[in-house]
Amino acid sequence: MTLYLDNAATTPVRPEVLEAMAPYLARFFGNPSSHHEVGEAAASALDDARRRVAAVLGMRAGDVMFTSGGTESNNAAIKGLVLGSGRRHLVTTAIEHESVLASADYLARLHGVEVTHAAVDATGTLTPEALAAALRDDTALVSIGYANNEVGTIQDAAALADVAHARGVPLHLDAVQAAGWLPLAGLGADAVTVAGHKIAAPKGTGILAVRGRLPFEPLLHGGGQERGRRSGTPDVAGAVAIARALQLAEAERLDEAARLSALRDAFIARVLALVPGARLTGHPTRRLPGTASFVFPGTNGETVLLELERRGIVSSSGSACAAGSDEASHVLTALGFAHDDARTAVRFTLPHALAASLDPVADAVADAVSAIGSRG
Ligand SMILES: Cc1ncc(COP(=O)(O)O)c(C=O)c1O
Repeated sequence: MTLYLDNAATTPVRPEVLEAMAPYLARFFGNPSSHHEVGEAAASALDDARRRVAAVLGMRAGDVMFTSGGTESNNAAIKGLVLGSGRRHLVTTAIEHESVLASADYLARLHGVEVTHAAVDATGTLTPEALAAALRDDTALVSIGYANNEVGTIQDAAALADVAHARGVPLHLDAVQAAGWLPLAGLGADAVTVAGHKIAAPKGTGILAVRGRLPFEPLLHGGGQERGRRSGTPDVAGAVAIARALQLAEAERLDEAARLSALRDAFIARVLALVPGARLTGHPTRRLPGTASFVFPGTNGETVLLELERRGIVSSSGSACAAGSDEASHVLTALGFAHDDARTAVRFTLPHALAASLDPVADAVADAVSAIGSRG
C-alpha cells in the first residue's frame, strides 16, 4: 500500500465535507442570485458558509469571498488591493508561491508597480526589521506567506502586521499551507487566502477574505456577485464544502498540531541520524507541524523520490508546480543553498489523521539514499 506524504500538494476530500456539499449539487441547485425559493435555499447556504468562514478567520461575513483556489485568491488579493489603492509599490519576499511572485511580476510589467522582495534569513524567516526596511511611503500592500510551502517555516504574522500597519500599509497573508495548522484569527491581517484542496475540501474551492472597505479592484467583471468583488455565479456546493472543511480543521487544530509536531520531530531526528550529510531545510522549530523537508547533498531529489516510491512512499521535492523539474527551487536558493544542494530537496508533508510512527519511513529514506550512493 502507498503511504501518501505529499499533503501540502493536495489532500483527499473528507467524508463529512462530501456529505455537507452533496445536497447543493442536485437537490438545492438554485442560483443564489435568483429571487425565488429555489434560489433562496442556495443563497442561505452561501450566507451560512460565509458566516462559518468568517468565524474561523476572525472577520465579518461580508469580508469573505469564495474563489476557485489559492492561485485565484492570491492573484485577486495582490492585483485587487494594489490597483485599488492607487499606490505603486508592493512588498513581498523571494520565497513566496509562484501565484504571488507572478502576480507581482504582472503588476510590475503592465502597471509600473515597483516590487521589493524583503530579505528572509537562512531559515526562511522574515524579521519585523527586514519588513520595516522594505516599506516606503507609497507602499500599497505587503503580501507574505504565513507558512512556506516548501520548507514549512512559519512567519510571525501578528508582528509583521504591526510593522505594516505602523506605516499605514495593509497585510495580505497567503495562509494556504497554514490553514488547519495555525490560528487564522487575531493576527491583524487585512486579507487572507485559503485553498480548499489543502484542507480536505475539493479542488477548485478557495477563499479570499478582505477586511472591511479596503479599496479593491476586481479581477472578474460581470454580474456583480460577491459584493462586486468577483462576478460569476458562485459555486454554492464548493462554498459549503470549504466552510465545513475549515470549521472541522479549526476544531481539531490544537490537538492535531501538537500530536503531529511530535511525530514530525521524531521523524526529522531519525532521518538526520541515519542519513549521512542530510540537512533539514527551513526553521528548526518554527515550522508547520506536518512538514519535514531536507536536502540530501550528493543525491538527486527526483531520484530519491523514485527510490522512495519503489518502497511505497509518495512525497515530493517541494512545490507541486515544480514537480518533475530538475530546476533548483527558488525558495532554497533564496535561503542560501547552493544550486547543486537545492536540487536534492525532498519534502514530506503529513496527513492530519496520521497515527503511526514514521520510523519505518525514516528507515526507508536512509535505504533509498544509500541505494543511490552505492549505485553512483
Ligand atoms: C503557499 C501556497 N500558496 C498558493 C498556492 C496555490 O493554491 P492552489 O493550488 O489552490 O491554486 C499553493 C499551492 O500549493 C501554496 O502552497
